[in-house]
Amino acid sequence: MSELLRIGILTISDRASKGIYEDRGGPAIHAYFEQTLTSPWEPVARIIPDEQELIEKTLMELCDMEDCCLVVTTGGTGPAPRDVTPEATEAVCHKMMPGFGELMRVVSLKNVPTAILSRQTAGIRGSTLIVNLPGKPSAITECLDAVMPAIPYCIDLLDGPRMTTDEARIKAFRPKSS
Ligand code: MTE
Repeated sequence: MSELLRIGILTISDRASKGIYEDRGGPAIHAYFEQTLTSPWEPVARIIPDEQELIEKTLMELCDMEDCCLVVTTGGTGPAPRDVTPEATEAVCHKMMPGFGELMRVVSLKNVPTAILSRQTAGIRGSTLIVNLPGKPSAITECLDAVMPAIPYCIDLLDGPRMTTDEARIKAFRPKSS
């Protein structure tokens, strides 16, 4: 894993990938990290349709070839037939991290009762953390604010680059012994 902090931003949407509407999720994730991180980082952005094989291939590329320590997906987490992001995530991960999805749903439920319709999850592939977010751009800050305090330490544990945050926005938690 390189010392440069590379973050994969993967928009999964049939319509955004065809240009039927503008991708707002990917840019919202980009803006979130721009505002939150104080360590230098670079994005690796992709927009693809809701095809499980393609999602798996793209996730593997972002983790294994593009050397991302973190990949954040948006979209495809719901109950509709074409929503297969959690299945693709699970298929490429070596370990699942179910606490991420649990926490994001609890936080989102305070604002929207349909938060339970998201099957968003997270997991580890090699030394990369993959986190799913729902496709609604408004969900992005809500969900990332909930899990972000634990992400830098998770990346430390995977021997990734040191991630630092603007503490006025998000205080990363690292146990005192680390
Ligand atoms: N979570 C938050 N924070 N805000 C939202 O607006 N929308 C819900 C849910 N989670 C939502 C949310 C809805 S309506 C759906 S259908 C699911 O996410 C799945 O969305 P996706 O298929 O676009 O990923």
